[in-house]
Amino acid sequence: MEISKVGVAGCGLMGHGIAQVSAEAGYDVVVCEVSQEALDKGIGKIEKQLGKAVEKGKMEQADADAVIGRIQGTLELEDFADCDLVIEAITENLDQKLDLWKQLDGIVKDEAFFATNTSSLPVADQAAATGRPERFLGLHFFNPVQRMPLLEVIESGATESGTMGVGLAYGEKLGKTTVETKDKPGFIVNRLLVPYLLDGIRGYEEGIGSVEEIDIAMKAGAGHPMGPLTLCDVVGLDTLASIADVMYEAFGESRFQAPATLQKLVGEGHYGMKSGRGFYDYSGDRPVAVDPEL
Ligand code: CAA
Repeated sequence: MEISKVGVAGCGLMGHGIAQVSAEAGYDVVVCEVSQEALDKGIGKIEKQLGKAVEKGKMEQADADAVIGRIQGTLELEDFADCDLVIEAITENLDQKLDLWKQLDGIVKDEAFFATNTSSLPVADQAAATGRPERFLGLHFFNPVQRMPLLEVIESGATESGTMGVGLAYGEKLGKTTVETKDKPGFIVNRLLVPYLLDGIRGYEEGIGSVEEIDIAMKAGAGHPMGPLTLCDVVGLDTLASIADVMYEAFGESRFQAPATLQKLVGEGHYGMKSGRGFYDYSGDRPVAVDPEL
């Protein structure tokens, strides 16, 4: 079946990016949020990105208008009924995802494909909550979705090869680099990246350097585009803590355990860039490092 209409559940950090790149690739997109405020915020981010692209001469105004015209925002899951592919990008919480899939399974046409953008939760568990596990797969994007070239395409064990083909073709149409991977916690990238980020926080706790020095060191010494503590803020500290919990439970190794500083910041509502504060404060013209103990 040809994919022409894509549904995206969630218009937050990942969902707005998935909706944007899908519309830019020519798909009709329906994006759903739980409140008008959250929906307006997500669509506003897409409009801002497109506005910047036009300002920089990278896109014609007419093309930007066409992209926005292909995106339908909604608060009703019923609007996903005739989508060919539905991707969930809601909170990293298994119960909420299972609840969403149970509802969507009864709403979306039987021949449609379902995909989760989970960072670490088992794809198989979500697939089993639907009556179509063979047409269910993982499509894991990276933040910022508009910029990061990779798409992990995840096979749950029940995913049919034709469904993997649909995921790979969708990624190619988006211009992404695709890799196929298995349904193991963290897949490929987070299996390697998450312990590194958590070690960056542990290093800070042990006093190997200040927040800024740790970031500067990994940029200048290892050629990374951003340091680990900035990257924690980009990923979202709440998301990182959830991924760490899932991986620690799965592997039982201390390198996957969320450090105390991460738990403290999340407990205080400091989620990184998306909330305006994490290891840095983003309220001014440029990020300013904050001592998490303060
Ligand atoms: N959203 C959309 N576009 C963004 C953006 C954002 N948040 N941040 C930057 N950009 C765009 C800029 O607008 C700019 O676009 P143009 O080239 O069209 O002008 C382009 O990206 C480059 O931006 P900058 O010059 O300001 O910055 P940069 O050259 O330092 O690149 C970066 C920014 C691409 C984010 C780079 O720093 C980078 O690659 N960082 C690492 C990000 C990373 O590792 N992401 C993966 C996180 S793990 C994950 O997401 C998975 C998970 O499950 C946790």
